[in-house]
Amino acid sequence: MENKGLTKVDLIFESIDIMKVMKKAFEMTSDEIIQQILESGLKGRGGAGFPTGLKWKYTAAEKDPEKYIVCNADEGEPGTFKDREILDKVASKVYAGMTIAGKAMGARKGFIYLRGEYRFLLPQLFAELHKFHKLINEIGYDFSIEYRMGSGAYICGEESALFESIEGFRGEPRNKPPYPTVSGLFSKPTSINNVETLVTSVMIIEKGANEYFKLGTKDSRGSKVFSISGDTPIPGIFELELGMTVQEFVNEFGDGDTKAVQVGGASGFCVPRKKFKDTIIGFEGVPTGGSMKLFNSSRSMYNVLHNYLDFFAEESCGQCTPCRVGCQQLLKGVEKVKKGESKSTYLNELVKLADTMKVASKCGLGQSVGNAFKSIVENFREEIIY
Ligand SMILES: Cc1cc2nc3c(=O)[nH]c(=O)nc-3n(C[C@H](O)[C@H](O)[C@H](O)COP(=O)(O)O)c2cc1C
Ligand code: SF4
Repeated sequence: MENKGLTKVDLIFESIDIMKVMKKAFEMTSDEIIQQILESGLKGRGGAGFPTGLKWKYTAAEKDPEKYIVCNADEGEPGTFKDREILDKVASKVYAGMTIAGKAMGARKGFIYLRGEYRFLLPQLFAELHKFHKLINEIGYDFSIEYRMGSGAYICGEESALFESIEGFRGEPRNKPPYPTVSGLFSKPTSINNVETLVTSVMIIEKGANEYFKLGTKDSRGSKVFSISGDTPIPGIFELELGMTVQEFVNEFGDGDTKAVQVGGASGFCVPRKKFKDTIIGFEGVPTGGSMKLFNSSRSMYNVLHNYLDFFAEESCGQCTPCRVGCQQLLKGVEKVKKGESKSTYLNELVKLADTMKVASKCGLGQSVGNAFKSIVENFREEIIY
């Protein structure tokens, strides 16, 4: 287990000369840009952790002259608020990341899908975008970005549901394959990347892949912006090198009485105190799109679980049966066990249902409901039963 300890980093919010990085990228060939991102080991920061360089490479390989780069700023995962901060503080880096990705893949158009609740940021985001468009026009580069607004549906953060939403349809996930790199927005080759992924790629071009590669571990290169909330004396946004244990994280951010940390939001995993020391935060342990929620001993883990299940039952798009019915049944099931209307052994049946949902659901929403469900039931069973 490679353990890097807890180190604060300032990469994402570091102030840089955007035009200098853009010029550097423009002097590189598409292959050179993609090679840098591949060599950095960067994996997507939106949650799934797909290697960013590969995504760009696959999109670049498509012959269609019309391609898109989409920035996923839907940020719907409970407990995640880092993309809002990135857009608020360094929007021009997001625009630069999209332009560089566009150059690497041959896309001339970018869309940013912004969480509906972040509408209040639009005036400043438009002002920054106007300045950015002027700058790239001055150097004669043909690339433009437009905003599209979300409307409060968690499922619209899922990449193919997001495309449906931009295209004006109900936000429901598509069948895969084809993957977005082949047929994405408007059925054209598309790379969709998280806000933080795009900014990180700018910093990789600026510093060089070798420098970035030194941060983090074999499976989790680099640093990550965390949204820290719950029972902590210092809630907020922190950028940390990847590869710390949950214990090291709790030593820094806990209130001295942390009994569990929910890593990765409602779709992530609950780590109990007894596993803090042996669990690495990253792709080799518990991955996270950034949400870190701490719970102390005053919290009922039944209430935590109920809250997540209620969220999933509400947000399931209803398209496939395992998720639509499964979310409702898990919610009703734990309620019955808590009230004593079902035996505690019924929890074992519900765990089997969560396993079935993982393999039978159509998209990541239904597939990940079991993460929080199983990790809370397995580690806090005594708090769930009557
Ligand atoms: C239900 C659901 C919601 C999602 N919400 C988001 C989101 O708000 N932001 C995001 O970047 N990715 C979200 N994703 C992941 C995206 O589908 C996609 O993997 C991501 O935008 C790819 O970017 P990356 O490779 O830079 O991580 C969500 C996935 C699912 C299944
Ligand atoms: S898993 Fe859930 S959210 Fe995803 S397509 Fe099926 S019903 Fe919709």
